[in-house]
Amino acid sequence: MHEIVIDSTSFTYGSNEVLRDINLTVEAGEFVCLLGPSGCGKSTLLRLLAGLSQPTSGSIALDGSPITGPGLDRGVVFQDYSLFPWMTAGQNVVLALEQAFPGKSKQEYRQTALEYLEMVGLADAFPKLPGQLSGGMRQRAAIARSFAINSPVLLMDEPFGALDAITRARLQDLLLQLWDQREGERKTVIFVTHDVDEALLLANRVVVLGLNPGTIKEIIPVNVPRPRIRKDLYLKEDFLALRERLVSVLHENILSELEAGQTMHAQGDGI
Ligand SMILES: Nc1ncnc2c1ncn2[C@@H]1O[C@H](COP(=O)(O)OP(=O)(O)OP(=O)(O)O)[C@@H](O)[C@H]1O
Ligand SMILES: [Mg+2]
Repeated sequence: MHEIVIDSTSFTYGSNEVLRDINLTVEAGEFVCLLGPSGCGKSTLLRLLAGLSQPTSGSIALDGSPITGPGLDRGVVFQDYSLFPWMTAGQNVVLALEQAFPGKSKQEYRQTALEYLEMVGLADAFPKLPGQLSGGMRQRAAIARSFAINSPVLLMDEPFGALDAITRARLQDLLLQLWDQREGERKTVIFVTHDVDEALLLANRVVVLGLNPGTIKEIIPVNVPRPRIRKDLYLKEDFLALRERLVSVLHENILSELEAGQTMHAQGDGI
């Protein structure tokens, strides 16, 4: 199970209408990427899914039950990584493990935390405070924490944004591996990115949001067989056509915003 239904969901901060009438069903085991210009409400939508805010109107349900607060059924990587700054990277992962899998020994928690930190290339970071780590390292520690609790739903907000290209590719592969670990029991993933190629590598569907207010502009299915091999994808005509289409949907979005007198920051193909 683990299907998410976002039903006529709107959200406002004071007088700022951030999200308007979002309707989206994410099937159990589906991998959905959210793309859209800065400020269109991607992080806000993830906070709603995480249960940290409530919709102003409409509802969000996980397996038919409204999301009313945070839960261990949803692993979250926020855009600001949100590690506890007074705890080491290792302690941050251990704490999540203690909450997710109560009743194990201290040694087991430490061992598992270390394994997940090693998985993201951070074996040496266990005793370090977040303040002693680079942005990319903090990001990886938060990713290790979200992977360690092995929740059926993963909510990730630009999780690989601060990483170099090689680490990023490694973690994309690791994420797909964890997502696909048990046949028939894939995790349900909602993943925010500004990177068109990342979205097309990972997603079953790409949801493009527009700005002011945030609405769903288009949902693009990515019917590309898996495993998706990076270097092969770009040799295929139908993949290139799909990429072209996604880029043009994003650009149309920006152009219409510019025409409406909004200021935007466009970065290459990403938005
Ligand atoms: N705590 C808050 N109080 C008031 N307004 C907020 C708050 N958080 C976000 N907003 C506003 O909500 C809108 C959407 O913000 P959000 O962070 O969801 O955008 P985003 O799509 O994630 O952008 P980015 O790509 O830059 O991360 C913006 O106009 C922002 O100013
Ligand atoms: Mg954001």
